[in-house]
Amino acid sequence: MTARVCSVLDGSPVLDGPGDSYLSRNPARTGEVVAEVRLGEAKTLLAAVRSAREAQPGWAAVPAPVRGRVIAAVGRLVEANADALAALVTREVGKPVAEARGEVQEVVDTCDFFTGEGRRLYGHTVPSELPDKQLFTVRAPLGVAVVITAGNFPVAVPSWYLVPALLCGNTVVWKPAEYSAAIAAAFHSIFLHAGVPAGALGLVLAGGEQTYAGLELAFDAGLVDKVGFTGSTAVGRRLGALCGAHLQSPCLELGGKNPMVVAGDADLDLAVDGALFSGFGTAGQRCTSLGTVLVHESVHGEFLRRFARAVETAVVGDPTDPRVLYGPMLEERFLAGMDAHLAAVRPHHTVLGSTGQGRITAANPRAGFVGDPDAGLFAHPSIVDGVRPDDTLFTEETFGPIVGVCSYSHLDEAVELANASGYGLSAAIYTRDPEQAFRFQRGVRSGMVSICNSTSGAEAHLPFGGNGRSGNGSRQSGVWALDQFTRWQAVNWDFSGRLQKAQLDTALPPADPDFRIVSPG
Ligand code: UN1
Repeated sequence: MTARVCSVLDGSPVLDGPGDSYLSRNPARTGEVVAEVRLGEAKTLLAAVRSAREAQPGWAAVPAPVRGRVIAAVGRLVEANADALAALVTREVGKPVAEARGEVQEVVDTCDFFTGEGRRLYGHTVPSELPDKQLFTVRAPLGVAVVITAGNFPVAVPSWYLVPALLCGNTVVWKPAEYSAAIAAAFHSIFLHAGVPAGALGLVLAGGEQTYAGLELAFDAGLVDKVGFTGSTAVGRRLGALCGAHLQSPCLELGGKNPMVVAGDADLDLAVDGALFSGFGTAGQRCTSLGTVLVHESVHGEFLRRFARAVETAVVGDPTDPRVLYGPMLEERFLAGMDAHLAAVRPHHTVLGSTGQGRITAANPRAGFVGDPDAGLFAHPSIVDGVRPDDTLFTEETFGPIVGVCSYSHLDEAVELANASGYGLSAAIYTRDPEQAFRFQRGVRSGMVSICNSTSGAEAHLPFGGNGRSGNGSRQSGVWALDQFTRWQAVNWDFSGRLQKAQLDTALPPADPDFRIVSPG
C-alpha cells in the first residue's frame, strides 16, 4: 500500500501551492513505493512556524506535570503501535527488524524519562545577600523550535528533540528526511492522538534548499527561537552560521569518524564483536558508526584476521530476515556515496571483508547474501587496512559499510590518531588496563567514550553529542536536553519595602583583619 504524505499544519494536510513530489521507496525493493510525498516550499515552513508561534502561549500555559502526562500518552501509544511502527521503519529505510524494534523502544524510553521531568523541571532557590529578599531561578520555554532530522533514525532521534521540546512548553515544527516521510507521518499522528494540540507540532516535508529558505524567512520575521539539526557537518555549518547571525545557538548533532582503539592486551574477540556491530550494523549509517580501528601493532595481524573473518561471514540482505546484520542503504544517494569513498582506496591499502566491493548485484555478488540483491540498494562491506592520517578514508565520514584499520605503537599515538580527523562524537577503547582506559578517556576529545564497548548504541538517558566537526557542544538526551529547550530566568523579589542595592547596601559584620593567634608557650 502506498501512503500519501504531505506537510501537516494545525492538524490539517497542506495541499496548496505547486509543491514538488518525491517517491519514498523501500530501499530493499526499490520497485515498491512506500509513500508519494508532496513536498512543501519555503512558505510552507514559514506558515508552519507562524502557527506554532500562535499555539505556543497556550501550550506553555498547560502545567508542566500535565504536559508530562501527554508525553506519557505518547510513550504508551508508541508502545501500543510498536510492531506497526517498527515494520514501517524496516520497510521505508531498510533497518533490520530487531534494530527497528530497538529504535522504537528508544522512543518509549525517552518518553518515560521526560514524563517524570514534567514533575521536576526544577529551578533553584538562592539566598540573597540582602534581608527580606528572595532569589530564584525558573526554566522558561524558548518559544518555537524548528527540528530538522535525518532518516537513519527516523523516530528515535526525532524523539530526542520533540519530546523534551514539547515537555518544556515549546511548540515545534518538525522537518524529517523525505525518504522517511511515511514513518514521519505515522509518528506525527501518534503525538496528535496522544493529546499534543494540533498547533503545537507541525510537520513539514520539504527539500533541503526550500527548508533553508523557509528558515531564513522565519528568522527574518523573528519567529524562530531554536533550531535542532541532526545531519551532515556541511549542512550543520550552514545552519549554524544562519543561527549565529540571529544570535542563536542551535543544537547540532553532526557527523562522526569514530575511532576504536584495540590495545595490545585487548580481548580480541570482544573487540571484533564491537567493531562488526558498530562498523557494519545499520550498514555503517549511524553518526556513531565506527570509522577507523586503531590497533596496536602487536595484535594487528591477529585482529585483522579475526575481523575479516567476522565480516566475511556476516549475513547481508533482506532486512526482514532475522539473520541479517545489515540491510540496504537508506536511499540512492548513500549508495552513490559509497562509490566515491571506494574511489579513495590507494595502492597502500588492502581491502578485505567481502567477495566484492561497492554495490551488491547478481553480477557482483556477496557470499551468503539473502534476498534479491538487484532489487535493492545493497553494498558490500569493506575493511580497508593500512589507512594513514593523510588519507581521505581516514579523515572523512563515509556513512556506509567501510571501516579503516591503522596500526599504532604507543597509547599517546593512538590518542593523537583518535583526535586527528577533527570529528569528536564517539570513541572506544578495548583494553584490560584501567590506566590505559583512563588515559585514553582523558586524551580523546569526543563527547562520548566507550570502554570495552563499541562506538554506537548509546543509552537514552546519557548526554549524547559531539565536539569539533561533530557538533557545537550541544547535548541531547537525559536532563542535559533541558538546557537546549529552556532558558534560565533569574528572579529576585525584594519584599523589604525599600530600595536595597546589591553590593552597595550589603551589611557585613565587622572583622579585625589584624588579629593573629598567639601560640601557647
Ligand atoms: C545517529 O546516528 O544520528 O548511539 C544517532 C547510537 C544510536 C543513535 C545514533 N542510539 O548509535
